[in-house]
Amino acid sequence: MSAGLVLLLHGPNLNLLGQREPQVYGYETLEDHEARVVTQLKTAGFDCQTHQSNSEGDIIDKVHSARGTTVGMIINSGAFTHYSWALHDALRSYSAPIVEVHLSNPSAREDFRHTSVVAPLAAGTISGFGPLSYDIAVQALVSLLSSNRNSNS
Ligand code: DQA
Repeated sequence: MSAGLVLLLHGPNLNLLGQREPQVYGYETLEDHEARVVTQLKTAGFDCQTHQSNSEGDIIDKVHSARGTTVGMIINSGAFTHYSWALHDALRSYSAPIVEVHLSNPSAREDFRHTSVVAPLAAGTISGFGPLSYDIAVQALVSLLSSNRNSNS
């Protein structure tokens, strides 16, 4: 039996992973990252739904539909991370654990990337490790969900 559904949510331009600035984001495609996360979550007993959109409203609708239907979320919100207060508000309405993930380390890049409107709502942020960021994010979320389950039982 599944321990629940996790949403893996990607924001704008991340559909171009592998082609866009590979010196920053690597040569793996979005599908490569999604496949690894789905497999790792499956091994840990969780189902995973993946979604990517370039549109802010669509991302917000996805967060809304994840309320009450998912047990946690891993989100790479791309550039929305740095300014989308609408995404921030949507995430405020989501009560399950959120792990924020980035391939690059936004804090070591341009000033506009130093702010994250997602970070205050996340259990934690994993950034700067390339594809490994996703692996660590899965481990972090699974560990959080297991300790929540143990403390609820
Ligand atoms: C990113 C970092 C963001 O600053 C950028 O806008 C992205 C990708 C990352 O994964 O490193 O699109 O979220």
